[in-house]
Amino acid sequence: MLRTNTCGELRIENVNQTVTLCGWVQKIKDLGSLTFIDLRDRYGITQLKLNIDSDSSLNQIAKNLGREFVLQVTGTVIERESKNKNNPTGEIEILVTQINILNKSITPPFTIEDETDGGDELRMKYRYLDLRRTIVRKNLELRHRMALETRNFLDKQKFIEVETPVLIKSTPEGARDFVVPSRMNKNQFYALPQSPQTFKQLLMVSGFDRYYQIVKCFRDEDLRADRQPEFTQIDCEMSFVEQEDILQTFESLTKHLFKVVKGIDIPEIPRMSYADAMKFYGNDKPDTRFEMKLVELNNTVKGKNFKVFDDAALVVAICAKGAAEYTRKQLDELTEWVKRPQIGATGLVYARHNTDGTLKSSVDKFYNEEELKKWSESCGSEPGDLILVLAGGEEKTRKAISELRLEMGTRLGLRDKNKFSCLWVIDFPLLEWNEGDPNLLASLAGRWHAKHHPFTSPKPEDIHLLDTDPGKIRANAYDIVINGVEVGGGSIRIHNKDLQAKMFEVLGFTKEEAQKQFGFLMNAFEFGAPPHGGIAFGFDRFCSLFGGAESIRDFIAFPKNNSGKDVMIDSPSEISDEQLKELYIKTYE
Ligand code: AMO
Repeated sequence: MLRTNTCGELRIENVNQTVTLCGWVQKIKDLGSLTFIDLRDRYGITQLKLNIDSDSSLNQIAKNLGREFVLQVTGTVIERESKNKNNPTGEIEILVTQINILNKSITPPFTIEDETDGGDELRMKYRYLDLRRTIVRKNLELRHRMALETRNFLDKQKFIEVETPVLIKSTPEGARDFVVPSRMNKNQFYALPQSPQTFKQLLMVSGFDRYYQIVKCFRDEDLRADRQPEFTQIDCEMSFVEQEDILQTFESLTKHLFKVVKGIDIPEIPRMSYADAMKFYGNDKPDTRFEMKLVELNNTVKGKNFKVFDDAALVVAICAKGAAEYTRKQLDELTEWVKRPQIGATGLVYARHNTDGTLKSSVDKFYNEEELKKWSESCGSEPGDLILVLAGGEEKTRKAISELRLEMGTRLGLRDKNKFSCLWVIDFPLLEWNEGDPNLLASLAGRWHAKHHPFTSPKPEDIHLLDTDPGKIRANAYDIVINGVEVGGGSIRIHNKDLQAKMFEVLGFTKEEAQKQFGFLMNAFEFGAPPHGGIAFGFDRFCSLFGGAESIRDFIAFPKNNSGKDVMIDSPSEISDEQLKELYIKTYE
């Protein structure tokens, strides 16, 4: 070893020991006859003291040092005069007798500190330097610990980790595939897996009983803060189980991770139906750290000659506790906020429930105090509260008020990232009508689309609706939501060939198409497929939630930017004509 100790481990008890440390120069303080250097490695920072006067060779070396040089230093541990309580090694320093420069560094393009001066793009380009920053390194240490604890837990529960292939087959369902041309099979393509879904089901047919894999998945979809084109799942499947067994097992995994990684005891995770989530929160992944439920006002406000409300399919309100003192300026700004295209509301109506008990709205012309009292009763407002109302088309308005609820939650400080609220959302619809989802192939528009995936089992009591009213069928599907983030989702699967074939029919596949795409699975179901079901957690999301971050990028060692690019290695990039030719690929302008 080139070192006797790390830069994070020496304490006052080590005083008088001779030690050798290796690390990077974080900071140099030149005080004339004395030079102080902060030496950093993965474990921490130790202060080095160079007594220049007494050693001319040290003097020579010290003059030529710069930030991020890699050093090997030998010296004696001594007690510091001015101690640094914020650093675990802050009571000692090393009185250096020898310095060996292991490597030089050019000046880094940004400071390697928690508060850095480097912008996003620059840090992505030099990601290996960004990863030297303690704050980023800690995220990956957290990720490591989460993976390890997941494996420990699942291993104890008799799950075994099986690797499934990465070069698989493209299927039009789900998000768009990333495809890989095959040189050996002219004009044929592999696809990268969006998830190991069919393979884990086949493993159940093989009798593996309990499978898991911490696995890379690939989806060619629009990127957001919580989406990457390649991401990681904790992917799990179990045989001979019902929905309840899966919820119990993975509630235990969630509790285990919270306990061992964050030291937090999570109470029993409540359950909410999809229908209630939509009704009370306007979306299927409600942030339940705070209440502020949606209140439908259709029956309360119509028929008073206010056209906006009279013409609306939905009039819906939230009651923001303690926000009656919002100024006109704040309310105007909030109105502009809901009118932004991302939110899409046409306007915002508000009513202040003043601290003296009076009610005053932005539509006083149409609603007198008596009428406003009815609003207040419906919303449960109290003196000091602010009622915010949106109106318009059903779906758009529900989506807009759900965004407004989250925004008000943020503005009122109700979304503390150190507080965790977990929720199971259950009873999802099996299917949804695809009007033309930009994340799906255009050829799938105007068809039923599986809300979860086509292998999800309908609730037995709803199966009879497959021919008559498919939109009403509920699925044995569930999501786990934490602080408004969909952390995982799964379902009980179809294990009967005929029901699976029927499902493909409802999804608009011809018999031939279904056989061509998924014949391997339906054939497998003829060889004694056990009842089975599972779940997959979005591992990057789980980690970023534990780390209190919005974006999953900081929890991925080498992430892509918002255009799906890795600017460090410059990927994706063009390939040579020779490669293209070998792959039988023509390029287009
Ligand atoms: P689903 O598609 O719901 O289910 O994915 C499971 C979880 O993966 C995470 N996730 C993502 N994370 C980052 N970037 C992305 N682009 C991305 N897409 C999804 C989410 C999501 O809840 N095979 C099924 C699971 C099953 O039925 O067992 C599946 O993949 O947190």
